[in-house]
Amino acid sequence: MNLNKNINLRRTFGIISHPDAGKTTLTEKLLLYGGAINEAGAVKSNKIKKTATSDFMEIEKQRGISVSTSVLSFNYLDKKINILDTPGHKDFAEDTYRTLTAVDSVIVVIDVAKGVEEQTEKLVKVCKMRKIPIMIFVNKCDREGKDAFDLMDELEKKLGFNISPISFPIGIGYDYTGIIDLVKSEVQFKDDDKSKYKYKSIINDSSKIDDSINKSLKEDLELIEGIYPKFEYNKYLNCEIQPVFFGSALHNSGVNLMLEYFTKYAPPPGKKESKNRIVHPSEEKFTGFIFKIHANMDPKHRDRLSFIKIVSGEFKRNSMYYHVRGKKKIRFSSPNSFFADKKEIVEKSYPGDIIGVHDTGNFKIGDSFSEGEEIEFIGIPSFSPEHFKYIINNDPLKTKQLSKGIKQLIDEGVAQLFTLKLNGRKIIGTVGMLQFDVIKYRLEHEYGAKCSYENVNIKKACWIDTSNSNNEQLKSLINYKSKFIAKDKDNKIVFLADSEFTLINTKHKYEGVIFHEKSEF
Ligand code: G4P
Repeated sequence: MNLNKNINLRRTFGIISHPDAGKTTLTEKLLLYGGAINEAGAVKSNKIKKTATSDFMEIEKQRGISVSTSVLSFNYLDKKINILDTPGHKDFAEDTYRTLTAVDSVIVVIDVAKGVEEQTEKLVKVCKMRKIPIMIFVNKCDREGKDAFDLMDELEKKLGFNISPISFPIGIGYDYTGIIDLVKSEVQFKDDDKSKYKYKSIINDSSKIDDSINKSLKEDLELIEGIYPKFEYNKYLNCEIQPVFFGSALHNSGVNLMLEYFTKYAPPPGKKESKNRIVHPSEEKFTGFIFKIHANMDPKHRDRLSFIKIVSGEFKRNSMYYHVRGKKKIRFSSPNSFFADKKEIVEKSYPGDIIGVHDTGNFKIGDSFSEGEEIEFIGIPSFSPEHFKYIINNDPLKTKQLSKGIKQLIDEGVAQLFTLKLNGRKIIGTVGMLQFDVIKYRLEHEYGAKCSYENVNIKKACWIDTSNSNNEQLKSLINYKSKFIAKDKDNKIVFLADSEFTLINTKHKYEGVIFHEKSEF
Protein backbone atom coordinates (compact mmCIF):
# COMPACT_ATOMS: atom_id res chain seq x y z
CA MET A 1 0.00 0.00 0.00
CA ASN A 2 1.45 3.38 -0.86
CA LEU A 3 2.20 6.15 1.63
CA ASN A 4 -0.73 8.40 0.71
CA LYS A 5 -3.21 5.58 1.05
CA ASN A 6 -1.85 4.78 4.51
CA ILE A 7 -2.06 8.44 5.54
CA ASN A 8 -5.67 8.72 4.40
CA LEU A 9 -6.68 5.70 6.45
CA ARG A 10 -5.50 7.19 9.72
CA ARG A 11 -7.45 9.29 12.21
CA THR A 12 -5.56 10.41 15.31
CA PHE A 13 -7.55 12.25 17.93
CA GLY A 14 -7.87 13.06 21.61
CA ILE A 15 -10.88 13.00 23.91
CA ILE A 16 -10.94 15.95 26.29
CA SER A 17 -13.23 16.67 29.19
CA HIS A 18 -13.48 17.72 32.78
CA PRO A 19 -12.91 14.69 35.05
CA ASP A 20 -15.94 12.43 35.43
CA ALA A 21 -17.77 13.60 32.31
CA GLY A 22 -17.39 10.08 30.90
CA LYS A 23 -14.20 10.11 28.83
CA THR A 24 -13.12 6.64 29.95
CA THR A 25 -16.58 5.18 29.38
CA LEU A 26 -16.79 6.72 25.92
CA THR A 27 -13.29 5.50 25.01
CA GLU A 28 -14.26 2.03 26.06
CA LYS A 29 -17.42 2.10 23.97
CA LEU A 30 -15.45 3.22 20.91
CA LEU A 31 -13.11 0.28 21.42
CA LEU A 32 -16.08 -2.06 21.77
CA TYR A 33 -17.63 -0.78 18.54
CA GLY A 34 -14.29 -1.19 16.85
CA GLY A 35 -14.14 -4.81 18.06
CA ALA A 36 -10.82 -4.06 19.77
CA ILE A 37 -12.09 -5.28 23.13
CA ASN A 38 -14.88 -7.70 23.89
CA GLU A 39 -16.34 -6.64 27.16
CA ALA A 40 -17.28 -3.49 28.96
CA GLY A 41 -14.98 -2.70 31.87
CA ALA A 42 -11.78 -3.69 30.07
CA VAL A 43 -10.28 -0.22 29.94
CA LYS A 44 -10.93 0.46 33.58
CA SER A 45 -9.84 -2.94 34.78
CA ASN A 46 -6.55 -2.41 32.98
CA LYS A 47 -6.07 0.81 34.96
CA ILE A 48 -6.68 -1.05 38.18
CA LYS A 49 -4.32 -3.88 37.26
CA LYS A 50 -1.48 -1.41 36.68
CA THR A 51 -2.21 0.28 39.96
CA ALA A 52 -2.07 -2.97 41.85
CA THR A 53 1.31 -3.95 40.43
CA SER A 54 3.22 -0.74 40.87
CA ASP A 55 4.14 1.35 43.82
CA PHE A 56 4.28 4.63 41.96
CA MET A 57 0.77 4.16 40.72
CA GLU A 58 -0.40 4.02 44.33
CA ILE A 59 -0.35 7.79 44.24
CA GLU A 60 -2.84 7.76 41.41
CA LYS A 61 -4.99 5.20 43.09
CA GLN A 62 -5.14 7.14 46.32
CA ARG A 63 -6.10 10.27 44.51
CA GLY A 64 -8.37 8.56 42.04
CA ILE A 65 -7.01 10.19 38.93
CA SER A 66 -5.29 8.90 35.87
CA VAL A 67 -1.75 10.26 35.62
CA SER A 68 -0.86 8.64 32.34
CA THR A 69 -1.73 9.59 28.80
CA SER A 70 -2.13 6.39 26.90
CA VAL A 71 -2.58 5.49 23.28
CA LEU A 72 -5.36 3.17 22.18
CA SER A 73 -5.81 2.12 18.56
CA PHE A 74 -8.53 0.26 16.76
CA ASN A 75 -9.87 -0.30 13.27
CA TYR A 76 -13.32 0.89 12.34
CA LEU A 77 -14.81 0.42 8.89
CA ASP A 78 -11.84 1.11 6.65
CA LYS A 79 -10.04 3.48 9.09
CA LYS A 80 -7.24 3.01 11.58
CA ILE A 81 -8.17 5.10 14.59
CA ASN A 82 -5.67 6.23 17.23
CA ILE A 83 -7.07 7.67 20.45
CA LEU A 84 -4.66 9.65 22.60
CA ASP A 85 -6.12 9.68 26.06
CA THR A 86 -5.60 12.85 28.06
CA PRO A 87 -5.67 13.35 31.82
CA GLY A 88 -8.63 15.55 32.70
CA HIS A 89 -7.25 16.51 36.10
CA LYS A 90 -6.05 20.10 36.14
CA ASP A 91 -2.75 19.25 37.81
CA PHE A 92 -1.81 17.39 34.64
CA ALA A 93 -2.98 20.06 32.22
CA GLU A 94 0.50 20.43 30.67
CA ASP A 95 0.46 16.75 29.78
CA THR A 96 -2.82 17.27 28.00
CA TYR A 97 -1.59 20.41 26.21
CA ARG A 98 1.37 18.44 24.89
CA THR A 99 -0.83 15.59 23.74
CA LEU A 100 -2.88 18.12 21.81
CA THR A 101 0.22 18.79 19.67
CA ALA A 102 -0.03 15.22 18.42
CA VAL A 103 -3.73 15.00 17.52
CA ASP A 104 -5.46 15.91 14.28
CA SER A 105 -8.87 16.43 15.86
CA VAL A 106 -10.62 16.20 19.23
CA ILE A 107 -13.88 15.05 20.75
CA VAL A 108 -15.05 17.12 23.71
CA VAL A 109 -17.19 15.25 26.24
CA ILE A 110 -19.69 17.31 28.23
CA ASP A 111 -21.73 16.07 31.18
CA VAL A 112 -25.36 17.00 30.46
CA ALA A 113 -25.98 17.93 34.10
CA LYS A 114 -22.81 19.93 34.69
CA GLY A 115 -22.52 21.61 31.31
CA VAL A 116 -19.30 23.42 30.44
CA GLU A 117 -16.81 22.95 33.29
CA GLU A 118 -13.55 24.75 34.07
CA GLN A 119 -11.13 22.22 32.62
CA THR A 120 -13.13 21.88 29.41
CA GLU A 121 -12.98 25.63 28.91
CA LYS A 122 -9.20 25.71 29.28
CA LEU A 123 -8.61 22.77 26.96
CA VAL A 124 -10.99 24.02 24.29
CA LYS A 125 -9.12 27.34 24.31
CA VAL A 126 -5.90 25.48 23.46
CA CYS A 127 -7.65 23.50 20.70
CA LYS A 128 -9.02 26.67 19.17
CA MET A 129 -5.63 28.37 19.35
CA ARG A 130 -4.20 25.44 17.43
CA LYS A 131 -7.16 25.28 15.05
CA ILE A 132 -7.93 21.67 15.88
CA PRO A 133 -11.31 20.52 14.48
CA ILE A 134 -13.73 19.68 17.30
CA MET A 135 -16.76 17.38 17.69
CA ILE A 136 -18.83 17.46 20.89
CA PHE A 137 -20.49 14.57 22.69
CA VAL A 138 -23.04 15.55 25.34
CA ASN A 139 -23.00 12.55 27.65
CA LYS A 140 -25.17 11.12 30.45
CA CYS A 141 -28.47 12.11 28.82
CA ASP A 142 -29.98 9.24 30.83
CA ARG A 143 -29.40 11.35 33.96
CA GLU A 144 -31.35 14.40 35.03
CA GLY A 145 -29.63 17.34 33.40
CA LYS A 146 -29.92 20.64 31.64
CA ASP A 147 -32.39 21.29 28.88
CA ALA A 148 -30.75 20.47 25.54
CA PHE A 149 -31.30 23.97 24.14
CA ASP A 150 -29.89 25.62 27.28
CA LEU A 151 -26.89 23.38 27.00
CA MET A 152 -26.28 24.23 23.36
CA ASP A 153 -26.59 27.88 24.31
CA GLU A 154 -23.96 27.39 26.99
CA LEU A 155 -21.63 25.68 24.52
CA GLU A 156 -21.88 28.69 22.23
CA LYS A 157 -21.53 31.31 24.95
CA LYS A 158 -18.82 29.77 27.13
CA LEU A 159 -16.77 28.02 24.48
CA GLY A 160 -17.39 30.38 21.60
CA PHE A 161 -18.63 27.52 19.44
CA ASN A 162 -20.76 27.76 16.36
CA ILE A 163 -22.59 24.51 16.82
CA SER A 164 -24.42 22.28 14.43
CA PRO A 165 -26.50 19.57 16.14
CA ILE A 166 -26.31 16.22 14.37
CA SER A 167 -28.41 14.38 16.91
CA PHE A 168 -30.91 15.45 19.54
CA PRO A 169 -32.05 13.68 22.72
CA ILE A 170 -35.56 12.34 23.08
CA GLY A 171 -36.12 13.44 26.68
CA ILE A 172 -33.42 13.89 29.32
CA GLY A 173 -32.97 11.91 32.54
CA TYR A 174 -35.85 9.62 33.48
CA ASP A 175 -37.58 10.40 30.18
CA TYR A 176 -34.53 9.71 28.05
CA THR A 177 -35.61 7.35 25.31
CA GLY A 178 -32.84 7.69 22.77
CA ILE A 179 -31.73 10.12 20.10
CA ILE A 180 -32.92 11.47 16.80
CA ASP A 181 -30.42 11.40 13.98
CA LEU A 182 -31.24 14.84 12.59
CA VAL A 183 -29.55 14.22 9.27
CA LYS A 184 -31.24 10.94 8.41
CA SER A 185 -34.36 11.75 10.47
CA GLU A 186 -34.03 8.40 12.18
CA VAL A 187 -34.84 7.46 15.75
CA GLN A 188 -32.32 5.44 17.73
CA PHE A 189 -33.72 4.09 20.97
CA LYS A 190 -31.40 3.60 23.90
CA ASP A 191 -30.74 0.08 25.00
CA ASP A 192 -31.46 -0.60 28.62
CA ASP A 193 -29.19 -3.58 28.60
CA LYS A 194 -25.82 -1.87 29.12
CA SER A 195 -23.91 -4.99 28.15
CA LYS A 196 -25.16 -4.76 24.56
CA TYR A 197 -23.15 -2.45 22.46
CA LYS A 198 -23.75 -3.34 18.86
CA TYR A 199 -26.22 -1.73 16.50
CA LYS A 200 -28.96 -3.79 18.12
CA SER A 201 -30.14 -0.71 19.94
CA ILE A 202 -31.19 1.05 16.75
CA ILE A 203 -34.85 0.87 15.88
CA ASN A 204 -35.86 3.26 13.15
CA ASP A 205 -39.48 3.56 14.06
CA SER A 206 -40.75 6.92 15.22
CA SER A 207 -44.23 5.47 15.89
CA LYS A 208 -42.71 3.94 19.02
CA ILE A 209 -42.17 7.35 20.56
CA ASP A 210 -44.76 8.31 23.10
CA ASP A 211 -47.32 10.73 21.57
CA SER A 212 -46.77 13.54 24.06
CA ILE A 213 -42.98 13.38 23.61
CA ASN A 214 -43.54 13.26 19.89
CA LYS A 215 -45.42 16.56 19.91
CA SER A 216 -42.84 18.55 21.82
CA LEU A 217 -40.06 16.84 19.90
CA LYS A 218 -41.57 18.01 16.63
CA GLU A 219 -41.51 21.58 17.92
CA ASP A 220 -37.92 21.17 19.04
CA LEU A 221 -36.90 19.85 15.67
CA GLU A 222 -38.51 22.80 13.92
CA LEU A 223 -36.65 25.12 16.23
CA ILE A 224 -33.34 23.40 15.50
CA GLU A 225 -34.00 23.59 11.79
CA GLY A 226 -34.67 27.31 12.16
CA ILE A 227 -31.75 28.42 14.30
CA TYR A 228 -28.74 26.15 13.91
CA PRO A 229 -26.50 25.96 10.85
CA LYS A 230 -26.19 22.75 8.86
CA PHE A 231 -22.94 20.86 9.15
CA GLU A 232 -20.37 21.95 6.59
CA TYR A 233 -17.25 19.89 6.20
CA ASN A 234 -14.85 22.71 5.36
CA LYS A 235 -16.10 24.86 8.20
CA TYR A 236 -15.60 21.95 10.59
CA LEU A 237 -12.03 21.49 9.34
CA ASN A 238 -11.33 25.20 9.77
CA CYS A 239 -12.69 25.13 13.31
CA GLU A 240 -15.59 27.39 12.31
CA ILE A 241 -18.36 24.92 13.10
CA GLN A 242 -18.64 22.20 15.73
CA PRO A 243 -21.00 19.25 15.28
CA VAL A 244 -22.82 18.23 18.49
CA PHE A 245 -24.01 14.73 19.38
CA PHE A 246 -26.14 13.71 22.35
CA GLY A 247 -26.23 10.33 24.05
CA SER A 248 -25.27 8.14 26.91
CA ALA A 249 -21.95 6.34 26.70
CA LEU A 250 -23.00 4.06 29.52
CA HIS A 251 -26.14 2.98 27.64
CA ASN A 252 -24.41 2.71 24.25
CA SER A 253 -26.71 5.38 23.01
CA GLY A 254 -25.72 7.95 20.42
CA VAL A 255 -22.09 6.79 20.38
CA ASN A 256 -22.35 4.85 17.14
CA LEU A 257 -23.73 7.86 15.29
CA MET A 258 -20.85 10.01 16.46
CA LEU A 259 -18.35 7.31 15.50
CA GLU A 260 -19.93 7.08 12.06
CA TYR A 261 -19.53 10.84 11.61
CA PHE A 262 -16.09 10.84 13.06
CA THR A 263 -14.93 8.11 10.70
CA LYS A 264 -16.38 9.95 7.74
CA TYR A 265 -15.31 13.51 8.52
CA ALA A 266 -12.42 13.68 11.01
CA PRO A 267 -9.28 14.84 9.20
CA PRO A 268 -6.39 12.52 8.33
CA PRO A 269 -2.88 13.44 9.61
CA GLY A 270 -1.96 16.98 8.62
CA LYS A 271 1.15 19.08 8.07
CA LYS A 272 3.32 20.19 10.97
CA GLU A 273 5.36 23.32 11.49
CA SER A 274 9.08 23.06 12.21
CA LYS A 275 11.59 25.85 12.87
CA ASN A 276 12.68 25.91 9.23
CA ARG A 277 9.73 24.74 7.20
CA ILE A 278 6.34 23.05 7.09
CA VAL A 279 6.56 19.25 6.93
CA HIS A 280 3.86 17.40 4.97
CA PRO A 281 2.85 13.83 5.87
CA SER A 282 3.25 12.67 2.27
CA GLU A 283 6.98 13.51 2.19
CA GLU A 284 8.88 10.28 1.61
CA LYS A 285 11.41 10.78 4.36
CA PHE A 286 10.51 9.87 7.92
CA THR A 287 10.16 12.60 10.54
CA GLY A 288 8.55 12.54 13.96
CA PHE A 289 8.67 14.07 17.42
CA ILE A 290 8.26 13.07 21.06
CA PHE A 291 5.16 14.47 22.73
CA LYS A 292 5.08 12.30 25.81
CA ILE A 293 7.49 10.35 27.97
CA HIS A 294 6.06 7.75 30.27
CA ALA A 295 8.07 6.51 33.22
CA ASN A 296 8.27 2.78 33.44
CA MET A 297 5.85 1.57 36.03
CA ASP A 298 8.43 -0.85 37.41
CA PRO A 299 10.84 1.15 39.61
CA LYS A 300 13.47 -1.62 39.38
CA HIS A 301 13.94 -1.00 35.66
CA ARG A 302 14.24 2.69 35.20
CA ASP A 303 13.59 2.78 31.49
CA ARG A 304 10.98 4.96 29.97
CA LEU A 305 8.61 4.79 27.06
CA SER A 306 8.80 7.80 24.75
CA PHE A 307 5.82 8.35 22.48
CA ILE A 308 6.74 9.50 18.98
CA LYS A 309 4.11 10.92 16.65
CA ILE A 310 5.04 10.18 13.06
CA VAL A 311 4.74 13.33 10.98
CA SER A 312 5.95 12.22 7.55
CA GLY A 313 7.20 9.25 5.57
CA GLU A 314 7.37 5.60 6.49
CA PHE A 315 8.92 4.55 9.78
CA LYS A 316 10.74 1.20 9.62
CA ARG A 317 11.95 -0.86 12.56
CA ASN A 318 15.75 -1.22 12.74
CA SER A 319 16.42 1.65 10.30
CA MET A 320 18.97 4.27 11.33
CA TYR A 321 17.31 7.57 12.19
CA TYR A 322 18.73 10.89 13.33
CA HIS A 323 18.03 12.20 16.82
CA VAL A 324 18.34 15.90 16.05
CA ARG A 325 19.02 17.37 19.52
CA GLY A 326 21.43 14.57 20.46
CA LYS A 327 23.08 14.81 16.99
CA LYS A 328 23.26 11.02 16.93
CA LYS A 329 22.11 8.23 14.67
CA ILE A 330 19.85 5.85 16.43
CA ARG A 331 18.21 2.50 15.70
CA PHE A 332 14.86 1.53 17.15
CA SER A 333 14.93 -2.23 17.42
CA SER A 334 11.73 -2.76 19.36
CA PRO A 335 9.30 0.09 18.67
CA ASN A 336 5.85 -0.57 20.08
CA SER A 337 2.55 0.10 18.45
CA PHE A 338 -0.63 0.12 20.50
CA PHE A 339 -3.71 -1.88 19.69
CA ALA A 340 -6.62 -1.45 22.04
CA ASP A 341 -4.91 -1.78 25.40
CA LYS A 342 -2.03 -3.98 24.20
CA LYS A 343 1.48 -3.09 23.06
CA GLU A 344 3.21 -4.97 20.29
CA ILE A 345 6.40 -4.61 18.25
CA VAL A 346 5.73 -2.84 14.98
CA GLU A 347 7.69 -3.23 11.71
CA LYS A 348 6.33 -0.18 9.87
CA SER A 349 4.34 2.86 10.87
CA TYR A 350 2.88 5.83 9.04
CA PRO A 351 2.01 9.49 9.65
CA GLY A 352 -0.64 9.79 12.33
CA ASP A 353 0.61 6.70 14.12
CA ILE A 354 2.15 6.80 17.55
CA ILE A 355 5.04 4.50 18.36
CA GLY A 356 6.48 3.90 21.79
CA VAL A 357 10.27 3.57 22.02
CA HIS A 358 12.26 2.54 25.07
CA ASP A 359 14.92 4.93 26.29
CA THR A 360 17.07 5.13 29.36
CA GLY A 361 17.08 8.88 29.72
CA ASN A 362 18.42 10.34 26.45
CA PHE A 363 15.20 11.80 25.12
CA LYS A 364 13.29 14.92 26.02
CA ILE A 365 9.78 16.02 25.26
CA GLY A 366 9.81 17.86 21.94
CA ASP A 367 12.82 15.96 20.49
CA SER A 368 12.65 15.52 16.72
CA PHE A 369 13.79 12.57 14.57
CA SER A 370 14.55 12.52 10.87
CA GLU A 371 16.54 10.75 8.17
CA GLY A 372 19.35 13.28 8.63
CA GLU A 373 17.70 16.67 8.25
CA GLU A 374 18.24 19.16 11.11
CA ILE A 375 14.53 19.47 11.65
CA GLU A 376 13.03 20.88 14.85
CA PHE A 377 9.29 20.64 15.25
CA ILE A 378 7.73 23.49 17.16
CA GLY A 379 4.52 23.84 19.10
CA ILE A 380 5.43 22.18 22.40
CA PRO A 381 6.10 25.24 24.53
CA SER A 382 6.26 25.44 28.32
CA PHE A 383 3.86 27.85 30.01
CA SER A 384 4.35 29.54 33.36
CA PRO A 385 3.87 27.07 36.21
CA GLU A 386 1.38 28.04 38.92
CA HIS A 387 3.31 26.78 41.95
CA PHE A 388 7.00 27.22 42.76
CA LYS A 389 9.18 25.73 45.49
CA TYR A 390 12.90 25.47 46.24
CA ILE A 391 14.00 21.86 46.10
CA ILE A 392 16.34 20.81 48.92
CA ASN A 393 18.66 17.81 48.92
CA ASN A 394 18.06 15.85 52.12
CA ASP A 395 20.85 13.35 51.65
CA PRO A 396 24.20 14.87 50.58
CA LEU A 397 25.55 11.40 49.80
CA LYS A 398 22.95 11.08 47.06
CA THR A 399 23.57 14.42 45.31
CA LYS A 400 24.34 12.76 41.99
CA GLN A 401 21.23 10.59 42.11
CA LEU A 402 19.13 13.64 42.95
CA SER A 403 20.49 15.66 40.00
CA LYS A 404 19.98 12.78 37.62
CA GLY A 405 16.48 12.15 38.93
CA ILE A 406 15.48 15.79 38.65
CA LYS A 407 16.89 16.06 35.14
CA GLN A 408 15.03 12.97 33.94
CA LEU A 409 11.74 13.97 35.55
CA ILE A 410 12.03 17.42 33.96
CA ASP A 411 12.78 15.81 30.57
CA GLU A 412 9.61 13.76 31.02
CA GLY A 413 7.68 16.99 31.53
CA VAL A 414 6.57 16.23 35.10
CA ALA A 415 7.53 19.78 36.16
CA GLN A 416 9.81 22.68 35.19
CA LEU A 417 13.17 23.51 36.70
CA PHE A 418 14.59 27.00 37.12
CA THR A 419 18.11 27.73 38.33
CA LEU A 420 18.55 31.15 39.94
CA LYS A 421 21.28 33.32 38.44
CA LEU A 422 22.13 34.85 41.78
CA ASN A 423 22.97 31.77 43.81
CA GLY A 424 22.36 28.70 41.65
CA ARG A 425 19.46 27.51 43.83
CA LYS A 426 17.02 25.25 42.09
CA ILE A 427 13.31 25.93 41.92
CA ILE A 428 10.68 23.43 40.81
CA GLY A 429 7.62 24.87 39.06
CA THR A 430 4.43 22.86 38.62
CA VAL A 431 0.90 23.30 37.34
CA GLY A 432 -0.62 21.56 40.37
CA MET A 433 0.47 20.81 43.91
CA LEU A 434 0.18 17.09 43.24
CA GLN A 435 3.37 17.03 41.17
CA PHE A 436 5.48 17.96 44.22
CA ASP A 437 4.36 14.71 45.86
CA VAL A 438 4.90 12.74 42.65
CA ILE A 439 8.45 14.14 42.27
CA LYS A 440 9.37 13.46 45.88
CA TYR A 441 7.97 9.95 45.69
CA ARG A 442 9.65 9.09 42.40
CA LEU A 443 13.03 10.57 43.39
CA GLU A 444 12.99 8.35 46.44
CA HIS A 445 11.65 5.16 44.85
CA GLU A 446 13.32 5.31 41.45
CA TYR A 447 16.56 7.18 42.16
CA GLY A 448 17.14 6.56 45.88
CA ALA A 449 17.37 10.32 46.54
CA LYS A 450 15.57 12.23 49.25
CA CYS A 451 14.32 15.78 48.86
CA SER A 452 12.14 18.31 50.59
CA TYR A 453 10.72 21.67 49.53
CA GLU A 454 10.94 25.19 50.84
CA ASN A 455 8.52 27.97 50.00
CA VAL A 456 9.63 30.68 47.61
CA ASN A 457 7.68 33.78 46.75
CA ILE A 458 7.25 33.49 43.00
CA LYS A 459 3.97 33.87 41.19
CA LYS A 460 4.81 33.80 37.51
CA ALA A 461 7.55 32.90 35.03
CA CYS A 462 8.09 34.86 31.81
CA TRP A 463 10.60 33.97 29.12
CA ILE A 464 12.85 36.78 27.93
CA ASP A 465 13.91 37.37 24.36
CA THR A 466 17.71 37.53 24.40
CA SER A 467 18.22 37.42 20.64
CA ASN A 468 19.54 40.99 20.55
CA SER A 469 22.66 40.85 22.70
CA ASN A 470 23.33 44.58 22.11
CA ASN A 471 20.13 45.49 23.90
CA GLU A 472 21.34 47.74 26.76
CA GLN A 473 18.03 47.42 28.61
CA LEU A 474 18.31 43.65 28.51
CA LYS A 475 21.81 43.78 30.00
CA SER A 476 20.67 46.13 32.71
CA LEU A 477 17.61 43.97 33.54
CA ILE A 478 19.78 40.88 33.90
CA ASN A 479 22.31 42.73 36.09
CA TYR A 480 20.06 44.84 38.28
CA LYS A 481 17.14 42.47 38.69
CA SER A 482 19.32 39.41 39.13
CA LYS A 483 17.32 38.05 42.04
CA PHE A 484 14.41 37.56 39.62
CA ILE A 485 16.51 36.03 36.84
CA ALA A 486 16.88 32.31 36.27
CA LYS A 487 17.60 29.79 33.52
CA ASP A 488 15.12 27.12 32.47
CA LYS A 489 16.03 23.55 31.50
CA ASP A 490 17.13 24.67 28.02
CA ASN A 491 19.21 27.55 29.40
CA LYS A 492 16.66 30.11 28.28
CA ILE A 493 16.52 33.24 30.44
CA VAL A 494 13.40 33.51 32.56
CA PHE A 495 12.06 36.33 34.72
CA LEU A 496 10.50 34.96 37.92
CA ALA A 497 8.11 37.59 39.24
CA ASP A 498 7.05 37.65 42.89
CA SER A 499 3.80 39.42 41.98
CA GLU A 500 1.79 40.62 39.04
CA PHE A 501 2.69 44.14 40.20
CA THR A 502 6.44 43.50 39.92
CA LEU A 503 5.93 42.07 36.47
CA ILE A 504 3.91 45.04 35.23
CA ASN A 505 6.41 47.48 36.75
CA THR A 506 9.41 45.71 35.30
CA LYS A 507 7.84 45.50 31.84
CA HIS A 508 7.13 49.21 32.08
CA LYS A 509 10.65 50.10 33.19
CA TYR A 510 12.35 47.86 30.63
CA GLU A 511 10.21 48.67 27.64
CA GLY A 512 12.89 47.54 25.22
CA VAL A 513 12.86 43.99 26.58
CA ILE A 514 10.35 41.47 25.26
CA PHE A 515 8.68 39.23 27.86
CA HIS A 516 6.92 36.09 26.62
CA GLU A 517 4.18 34.02 28.26
CA LYS A 518 5.61 30.80 26.86
CA SER A 519 9.01 29.30 26.18
CA GLU A 520 8.58 29.17 22.39
CA PHE A 521 8.47 32.50 20.65
P1 G4P B 1 -13.81 10.29 33.13
O1 G4P B 1 -12.96 9.28 32.43
O2 G4P B 1 -14.20 11.43 32.25
O3 G4P B 1 -13.27 10.76 34.43
O4 G4P B 1 -15.23 9.61 33.48
P2 G4P B 1 -15.66 8.07 33.54
O5 G4P B 1 -15.83 7.50 32.18
O6 G4P B 1 -14.79 7.35 34.49
O7 G4P B 1 -17.13 8.25 34.14
C1 G4P B 1 -17.37 8.84 35.40
C2 G4P B 1 -18.61 8.24 36.00
O8 G4P B 1 -19.75 8.54 35.17
C3 G4P B 1 -18.58 6.71 36.10
O9 G4P B 1 -19.33 6.34 37.23
C4 G4P B 1 -19.33 6.27 34.86
O10 G4P B 1 -19.90 4.99 34.99
C5 G4P B 1 -20.40 7.33 34.78
N1 G4P B 1 -20.91 7.52 33.41
C6 G4P B 1 -20.21 7.65 32.27
N2 G4P B 1 -21.04 7.78 31.21
C7 G4P B 1 -22.29 7.75 31.70
C8 G4P B 1 -23.60 7.83 31.11
O11 G4P B 1 -23.78 7.97 29.91
N3 G4P B 1 -24.65 7.77 31.99
C9 G4P B 1 -24.52 7.61 33.33
N4 G4P B 1 -25.61 7.56 34.06
N5 G4P B 1 -23.31 7.51 33.91
C10 G4P B 1 -22.21 7.58 33.10
P3 G4P B 1 -18.64 5.94 38.58
O12 G4P B 1 -19.72 5.56 39.50
O13 G4P B 1 -17.72 7.04 39.01
O14 G4P B 1 -17.72 4.75 38.18
P4 G4P B 1 -18.13 3.26 37.91
O15 G4P B 1 -18.24 2.68 39.26
O16 G4P B 1 -19.43 3.27 37.17
O17 G4P B 1 -17.02 2.73 37.12
